[in-house]
Amino acid sequence: MSSLEFVHPDPVFVPQWHVWRQHEQARLHNPIEDEHESELLARVLLQKAELGQLEEGKIHRWFVLEGKEVVGTVAIEQYNPRMRSASFGYHIAPNCAGRGLGTQIVRQFIKDVFFKTTIDRLIATVHKDNIASKKILSKVGFVFEGTLRQYLIVRGERVDFELYSILRTDSVS
Ligand SMILES: CC(C)(COP(=O)(O)OP(=O)(O)OC[C@H]1O[C@@H](n2cnc3c(N)ncnc32)[C@H](O)[C@@H]1OP(=O)(O)O)[C@@H](O)C(=O)NCCC(=O)NCCS
Repeated sequence: MSSLEFVHPDPVFVPQWHVWRQHEQARLHNPIEDEHESELLARVLLQKAELGQLEEGKIHRWFVLEGKEVVGTVAIEQYNPRMRSASFGYHIAPNCAGRGLGTQIVRQFIKDVFFKTTIDRLIATVHKDNIASKKILSKVGFVFEGTLRQYLIVRGERVDFELYSILRTDSVS
């Protein structure tokens, strides 16, 4: 198992993140727009966050380091302090895929979320054909709640997504 560090978004990570977002596998299952590096940079500059100081209406992002190499990113969105809920997403560097890193990153991040925030319910939405991502969620302890019919447009087509959740009272496995 690798030793992972979750760090603030930094402009130095943007070129790699931009490349990951161009990757065929990522675009197959996610509604990724064609963005210029400068647009991602502008986003990254707004997304700095501490888990203990989440803000409503903001996207909070971290990049994941394995040693000195950046291997992925995770983000919290739709944080609702009143409902103590949020959604989250993740993206693993394509050259690191299939090594179990996605599972390790999600597991470690979820534990941290429940430890450092008051969030009780975390959700993730996944393209119905994103088998690797669905496996990660199930392995970590997320529960399938249902299908979001024709939820998003991916490559010009409306597609079903699946809704998964994990509660503070569930065990992260
Ligand atoms: C989906 C993604 C997170 C998977 O990350 P990863 O590091 O390759 O995942 P893991 O190595 O932990 O593999 C998880 C499981 O999926 C399987 N898997 C990996 N790639 C697969 C593929 N292309 N097709 C089917 N299964 C796959 C693995 O064998 C593993 O299964 P196992 O637990 O039975 O051994 C990564 O490919 C990614 O970031 N994709 C683009 C962004 C994205 O889709 N994010 C998720 C949005 S909800």
